[in-house]
Amino acid sequence: MKNRFLILLSFVLIVGRDAVCANTSMVRERININRDWRYQIDDPDGVGAALHYSRLKPYLLPCANDFIIFGKRYQRPEGNPGENIAYVKSDFDDSEWRYLNLPHDWAIEGPFNIDYNGSTGKLPYWGIRWYRKTLELSQDDAGKQIYLDIDGAMSYASVWCNGQYVGGWPYGYASFRLDLTPYIKAGQKNVLAIRLDNPDDTSRWYPGSGIYRNVWLVKTSPVHVEQWGTFVRNQQVDSEIAVMEMGVNIENHAGKDVQVKLQTSVYLQGKDGRPVGEEVTQSMIKDIAIKKDSWSSARFQFKVDKPKLWDIDTPNCYVAVSRVFMDGKEMDSYETPFGIRTIEFTHDQGFMLNGQKVAIKGVCMHHDLGALGAAFNEVAAERQLRIMKEMGANAIRTSHNPPAPELVALCDRMGLMMQLELADTWQKGKRKNDYNLLFDDWSEADMRSLVRHYRNHPSVIMWSIGNEMPDQTTDQGVIIARNLTAYCHDEDPTRPTSLGCNKRDAVFRDIVNQVDIFGLNYFHKTYPVFKEQNPTRRYHASETSSATSSRGEYFFPVTTDVNNSRSGFQLSSYDMTTIGWGCAPEVQFKMNEEYPFMSGEFVWTGFDYLGEPTPYNKDLTNLLNFSDPNELEKARKELEELGKIKTPSRSSYFGIVDLCGFPKDRYYNYKSYWRPDVPTVHILPHWNWQERIGEITPVHIYTSGDAVELFLNGKSLGRREKVHSYDRLTWDDVRYEPGSLRAIAYKNGQKWAEELVETTGKPAALQVTAEKTELKNDGTDLSFIRVAVVDSQGRVVPRSKNHLKFSVTGPAEIIATDNGDATSLLPFQLSERDAYNGLALVILRSQYMKQGKVVLTVESKGLPKQKIALKVE
Ligand code: GAL
Repeated sequence: MKNRFLILLSFVLIVGRDAVCANTSMVRERININRDWRYQIDDPDGVGAALHYSRLKPYLLPCANDFIIFGKRYQRPEGNPGENIAYVKSDFDDSEWRYLNLPHDWAIEGPFNIDYNGSTGKLPYWGIRWYRKTLELSQDDAGKQIYLDIDGAMSYASVWCNGQYVGGWPYGYASFRLDLTPYIKAGQKNVLAIRLDNPDDTSRWYPGSGIYRNVWLVKTSPVHVEQWGTFVRNQQVDSEIAVMEMGVNIENHAGKDVQVKLQTSVYLQGKDGRPVGEEVTQSMIKDIAIKKDSWSSARFQFKVDKPKLWDIDTPNCYVAVSRVFMDGKEMDSYETPFGIRTIEFTHDQGFMLNGQKVAIKGVCMHHDLGALGAAFNEVAAERQLRIMKEMGANAIRTSHNPPAPELVALCDRMGLMMQLELADTWQKGKRKNDYNLLFDDWSEADMRSLVRHYRNHPSVIMWSIGNEMPDQTTDQGVIIARNLTAYCHDEDPTRPTSLGCNKRDAVFRDIVNQVDIFGLNYFHKTYPVFKEQNPTRRYHASETSSATSSRGEYFFPVTTDVNNSRSGFQLSSYDMTTIGWGCAPEVQFKMNEEYPFMSGEFVWTGFDYLGEPTPYNKDLTNLLNFSDPNELEKARKELEELGKIKTPSRSSYFGIVDLCGFPKDRYYNYKSYWRPDVPTVHILPHWNWQERIGEITPVHIYTSGDAVELFLNGKSLGRREKVHSYDRLTWDDVRYEPGSLRAIAYKNGQKWAEELVETTGKPAALQVTAEKTELKNDGTDLSFIRVAVVDSQGRVVPRSKNHLKFSVTGPAEIIATDNGDATSLLPFQLSERDAYNGLALVILRSQYMKQGKVVLTVESKGLPKQKIALKVE
C-alpha cells in the first residue's frame, strides 16, 4: 500500500505570510464526554453468545460507513448485531445501574484474591461490562460528522448508538474512532451503549479493565481533516532555518465532489498544548479537489527561521493550525502539535539528538498508575514522569503497548524521549488470550494507528514492533517483522523501527535484518559478541537490569547469595543479587560506558507496577528469558517450589521507585550516575538496628561525587575513592552501634555533598506533606500526600508500621491510599492502612465544580493527630 502522503496534490514552498487568528473555528469541536455514565456488570441473561467476538468480528470496523481505513475499503455486512438486547436500546431504563465518570478501571476496585496468579495483580480484571451514556445534540449539529474517539477501552469494545451497532475495536490499548453519523440524531437525546468483554489470561502484567482512558465526541463539518490526518517532518534543519514538509489529508462526506483551499499557520506551542503568540509562518494551497466519499492529500513545505529546536532540556514545540475553506467558508480547523529536531542512531556512537550524542537514560513503564490502577489520570501520569525526570531519566519505553495520548503530549512538553511499542506478542502467544488472538486480523491496523497517531510528536524517537515475541526465532517471525516494519515506514519514513529480543539466537537469524535498530533485552555480557557478529549493525539496549527490591528492607548477612536477600516476600534493598537474566544498575552502567554503540538503556522498570511480582511470580513465561540450560533448570526448580506455596505479592519489585513513587535506594544509584552534576550522596541502610549491636552491618553509598569519607558517631571509617564513575562505595566491615552515620562526598578534591543518617527515637508524630496544595475543581485534579511516621525530632522512623487512618472534609475525596508494600491485599480505596517502613501515600481528588478548603486528617493510635489544609478552586 502506498502512503497517502506520497500522493502529491500540491507542492509549494511558502514565502508569504498572512496574519490569521490561531483559535480553532466553530466548525470542529472536540468534547470530553467522560462524565455521567451508567455502568453494569454482565450481559442480560442468555444473550452473551450472540455478542461473542467471533460473531461481531465482521462488524468491528473502525468506521461504520465503509470509509477507507488504512488504504482498505472494508465491506460491512448487513444487519444489526445485538439489536434485540435490552441494554442497547434507547428507551432502556438504566437508572438502577451504577453512576460513574470515566476513566474507569473496574478491577482496581478489587477485591484482591491471594489465589489469583501474580500476573493479575491479584485483581479480577476479566468479565463482561456495559456502559451507557445519554448524549444531547443540538439542532445545530444537523449535517455534521459526529465521531466517537475512545483513547482506550479494555477490551473487545463494541458500541451501539440508539440501538444500532456502530463498531468497535478489540485491542484494549488501541485508541480508535467510530463514526456515529449514520446513527446519531441532531436536536435530540441519543444513547450510547458500550459493551466490553475482557478475557482472562490476557497478559503477563495487570492489564486493567473498563473504559480506562478518555472518551471524546468530535463534531466536524462533512469536509474535514482526517483522524490523525497530518504529518509534519523535517527536510532540512540547522540553527538558521528549518525547512519542513507537511501533509494534510482531507475527507469528503459532503455527498458530492468538492474543491477546497487549505491554509496552514504555524505558531509556537504554549504550556496548555495550544498555539501562542505571533504566527511564525503560513502556507496556502488552493484548488484541492476531493471526490465524493473519498479523501485527498495536500503536501507542502514551510520554513521556520531560527527554529527553536525540541531538545531534552528545551522541549520547544510548535503547532500547525490547518484550516480548510470551501466556497469561502471555513469548514475545519485542525491543530497539529509538532517539534523540530533531528535524530540518528549510529552503529558506533549510538544515538544523536540534534547532532549531539545523547546517551539514552530510559525507563520502561507499564501503563498502570499504581493505586489508581489503569484508569488514566493526567496529573498522576505527569507525576510519574516528573519523578523519573528528576532522577535523570530522559526516555520512556511504553512497554509493551500503545500509550494514552496525553502521556505522549506530556513527554513532548517535559523533554522526555519515547519508544512506543505495539504489543508483547505476535502470532505465538505467551498467555492463552493475549494479542496472539488478534494478531492476524488487527496487527496492521494497530501498528499503523500507533504510528499515525504519534508521528508528529518530537518525543517519539522510534517504534517498537514488539517485545520478546516467541516467534522471534521462527521463519514466520521474519515475515511478521518485515511487514510490521513496512507499515511503520509507510506511515512514517522518519523514525527507525526496533523490537525487544530476548533470544540470543535471534541475533544470528534473519529477523535481525527486519528492523532498523535491533533491541537487546538484557544480554549485557554479550554486547561485544553481537558487535563482532556485525560491526555496522545498529543495536540498542531495549531492556536492562531488572533489579528487584522492596523499599527500606535489608537482610543480613549481605552477600550475593539470593537466599540472604529475601524474607517475608520482601527483597533486600542492598541490590546485591538479581534475577537470573538481570544485573545490578552499575553493572549495566559499565557496559553502557564500554559499548556506546548500544545508545544507552531502558531500565526495567522506572515505577513498580501491578502484577508480575517476580521472584514471587509463578509465571512460566519467565523461563523464556533463559538461554543457558543450567540456569533454565535452576529457574524451573525455583518456580516448582514457589508453586507449592501461597504468595501474597500483587505488584512488582522491579521499580526504581515503589508503587507510591517513593524512591528505593536504587533511585540514588541512577540519580548519581545519570545526573553527575547534581550533588548527591546517599547512605544505605537506615541506622535503626537495635538487635544488631556489634554485628557486621555493611554501609553502601551512592554518590555523584568521586570520593566519600564515612563517619560513624564522629569517627572516620575511612575514605573511599571511585575508580569508575558508576562505582558504589562500600564499607563492608562496619559493626553496628547506634548513633549517626555521616557521609561527606568530594568531587575533584572539593566537598560536594553530605548526608546524615541517624538512629531515630520511637514514633512520636506524623508528618504530612502534600505535593500540591491547590487543586482545580475539575473533578480530576489530584494531590499526592506523603505521610511519614517520625520521631520527636522529625526523623522518619525506618521500620515503623503504625496503623494510619485518614479522613477528609471539604470538596475533595480520598480516592486511594498505598504504602509501597507489594504484599498488601488491602483495597486501595480504603481510608486506612499501615505505614510501610515509615511511609504511606494518600491520593486526594478534587470534587467537580465545588470550591473551598479541604482538610485531610491523619490519625494513628498513640500519636498526635495531624492535619493538612488544601484548597480547591
Ligand atoms: C522481560 C520482559 C518484561 C518483564 C521483565 C522482567 O523479559 O520483557 O516484560 O517481564 O522481563 O524482568
